[in-house]
Amino acid sequence: MDDILKQFNIEITKASSTEQIDAIRVKYLGKKSYIAMQLSSLAELSGSDRAQLGMAVNKAKAEISNLINDRKDSISSSQMFDMIDISKPGTALYQRPLLGHMHPSNIVLKETYQIFTELGFAIVDSPEIEDDWHNFESLNMPEVHPARETHDTFYIKDTDKKLLPRTHTSPMQVRFMNSNKPPFKVLISGKAFRNENEDATHSWSFGQIEGIVVAKGISVTDLKGTLAQIISKQLGENTQIRYRPSFFPYTEPSMEVDAKFNGKWLELGGAGMIHPKVLQNGGIDPEEYSGFAFGWGVERIAVIKYGINVLRQLWRPKLSYLEQF
Ligand code: FA5
Repeated sequence: MDDILKQFNIEITKASSTEQIDAIRVKYLGKKSYIAMQLSSLAELSGSDRAQLGMAVNKAKAEISNLINDRKDSISSSQMFDMIDISKPGTALYQRPLLGHMHPSNIVLKETYQIFTELGFAIVDSPEIEDDWHNFESLNMPEVHPARETHDTFYIKDTDKKLLPRTHTSPMQVRFMNSNKPPFKVLISGKAFRNENEDATHSWSFGQIEGIVVAKGISVTDLKGTLAQIISKQLGENTQIRYRPSFFPYTEPSMEVDAKFNGKWLELGGAGMIHPKVLQNGGIDPEEYSGFAFGWGVERIAVIKYGINVLRQLWRPKLSYLEQF
């Protein structure tokens, strides 16, 4: 067996192609090989001779088989390496890794968080599923209030508590007041859901942000000053702002906030001084504290900034479109 192995080692080291290796395999492990002959002669031997020879032959067989496989692997990888021209330029697909990038709505959100934190706002997490009290009642919108009509609502079936995907981020006003003492200034950011027909500027689900500030002696001047800072940082230094009287049951006075962008007045969202009743619902004494709140759509900002004409383009998984931003 030693002689056989020695000879095999010489031949396998010299082999330089898979064909040569196959020939060596036949020679040393094939049906007519010395090893095969030894194995078939085992039956004629008895007792310890048989065991001894059997062990030696099987050990040599395993060793030969392993070395053949190793050699075959190293030859095929070196042949493969010869086939690859590492100096050749890549094809279009592999030349440059395709890098992902932020979605326009997330660019706007990241900017928003930056601006609000610079102004000392804390960013607060909030539930997407609300109850009727927080979404409506606590905000001065009882069951029969006409303002509910502007909040076409999806309700969650089969719950006693009348749960709903929130129609705006304002339910966090009372929710936050209930567990925090003023003074505070917080930013709520998250999804809102309305049972609305989709059109160029509306969708059934959209992002909203909402700023809430409560402290002693807060007035409309503070609201306007804060909005002026935020809007000029988000839409550009000299962006003009306009306030139109409006109505929200949870703010008094209430206003719509518009910004002039590329020569056009565009509505951002709503704002106002928090209604005394809402402060009371939040456990805050309106004689001692006052505050303001404002909110707008995240996509609205993205649409204005990037000149997108149809809102739902933002949610289409069309890279050629989204890559522009
Ligand atoms: C509200 O939701 C108020 N809660 C805002 C507010 C907060 C007022 C705090 C006062 C104090 P409104 O329904 O107008 O208001 O929505 C605010 C903004 O959300 C809109 O200006 C728009 O930017 C966005 N928005 C509303 N509905 C949709 C929709 N269906 N699709 C996309 N964006 C929407």
